[in-house]
Amino acid sequence: MNKKIKNICCIGAGYVGGPTMAVIAHKCIEITVNVVDSNKARIDAWNDNDLRKLPIYEPGLDKIISKTRNKNLFFSTNVEMNISKADLIFISVNTPTKTKGLGAGKASDLKWVELCTRQVAKFATGHTIIVEKSTLPVRTAKVIQEILFKAQDESSNTHNSKTFDVLSNPEFLAEGSAVHDLLEPDRVLIGGEDLEPIKILSGIYEHWIPKEKILQTNLWSSELAKLVANAFLAQRISSINSISALCENTGADIYQVSKAIGLDTRIGEKFLKAGPGFGGSCFKKDILNLVYLSEYFGLPEVSRYWEEVIKINEWQRKRIYRLIVKNLFGTISGKKIGILGFSFKADTNDTRESSAIQISIDLLNEGANLIIYDPKVSKQQVEFALGLESNENNDSIKNPSLEQCAYTSNIYDVFKSSDCVVIMTEWKAFSEINWDKAARDMRHPAWVFDSRGVANKKQVIESGLNFWQIGIG
Ligand code: NAD
Ligand code: UDX
Repeated sequence: MNKKIKNICCIGAGYVGGPTMAVIAHKCIEITVNVVDSNKARIDAWNDNDLRKLPIYEPGLDKIISKTRNKNLFFSTNVEMNISKADLIFISVNTPTKTKGLGAGKASDLKWVELCTRQVAKFATGHTIIVEKSTLPVRTAKVIQEILFKAQDESSNTHNSKTFDVLSNPEFLAEGSAVHDLLEPDRVLIGGEDLEPIKILSGIYEHWIPKEKILQTNLWSSELAKLVANAFLAQRISSINSISALCENTGADIYQVSKAIGLDTRIGEKFLKAGPGFGGSCFKKDILNLVYLSEYFGLPEVSRYWEEVIKINEWQRKRIYRLIVKNLFGTISGKKIGILGFSFKADTNDTRESSAIQISIDLLNEGANLIIYDPKVSKQQVEFALGLESNENNDSIKNPSLEQCAYTSNIYDVFKSSDCVVIMTEWKAFSEINWDKAARDMRHPAWVFDSRGVANKKQVIESGLNFWQIGIG
């Protein structure tokens, strides 16, 4: 077995593969790291000389890329060649929820994982450690092993013999703080059957992470722990969001309640921020996966328990949309509404599952005209996420239509003639808005709906605007 890892290949140059490999290359200068992806446009963007054009926005990532790219970090579409050279391969491809077939709407679609495992089985040479980096249903490693061990057996009597070890090493980074999370993780989790490959992978992380933070488990605990971690985090958000509604009805203040309970060290202060509902590519997908697994293993009570976390999330979005309509005299048809923030959280350009999408669609379907501003999300991304189509020459196209939705790169355009603005993302700039200037441009009586609790309440009210903030009675 190769004791020293000299060449790593990561399949999937996305939100996980890109930053994770950049940090490994940065911390392990003696290792060559090749990140491969079948999406040429994405690889071209990773190779762009203009670091502002990297395909994902993460604070601090550009600096690490500039230090490592084309030194020991390479981005390429040549999947086969880089698989064949690698001592260790990270599988970091997408695992979205299945849209059709068995388990549609809940189970993870493992099409991409299986496809790249077959590529690995075909092109790997010598001994290769395969590491599941993607978030996967429990026992996926078994599928990967079956495919790889078949190739191993078939090659055993040839001069091209190949052998494999399979490990699980889920990623816990959060978008917007990925670089920090990778440099200083709470823990690194490695699941496996044999000590030797676990030690080798651990050796890579030990370049910068203290050994006591590297946790070793069996394969199935590692796979399941990742799903459970996300489910517990999402559950806290649904819990606090459910209480935000109760606060609004009773005169209690969600920030005071969060603080009071968070100071109990058994509860802890993190992930108690009420908002418009959790977004992002992971929480909903991973809970649905847990729901599916529980059903599959004949545990309907467990499955229903976790499903409620998603239901409260969807209810919170609808609740916000309804209260906007209610406060604008029950009708928003033809009214102009400004949307501040479209990404699912601050410090990322990712809009996957962003609550801004569902709330915007509901407002558009009610006949409102929207003007959207986000510092990192492009016009094309917004139009794609909302599924906007022009109905200029085709009246049969159902709402929402392209004509109802404008986009601006100037934050103060959002206020011009608007009946209300809705803060959807907690971008720092939204806590620094000049509300006097904003109020002068709006159509009165005008509203500010702050679903993130970032606006300066005193200034908003003093500028003559009506104000609703999440979780405040
Ligand atoms: P992503 O969609 O941003 O990136 C995945 C990439 O894999 C895509 O660019 C796609 O083109 C590529 N790909 C798919 N199949 C391929 C193949 N056979 N050959 C070459 N390239 C291929 O996804 P992501 O957000 O990076 O997530 C990847 C995995 O990590 C998922 O399982 C996700 O649940 C998990 N995860 C994501 C996050 C996050 O914050 N986004 C955090 C932790 C874990
Ligand atoms: C999450 C997990 O945190 C991370 O460990 C995992 O690897 C991937 O999934 P991510 O989705 O990138 O990370 O961001 P996160 O910070 O968890 O936020 C998810 C959503 O919850 C966002 O929409 C965010 O605004 C929301 N949120 C978070 C709240 O509404 N309140 C909070 O207190 C925290």
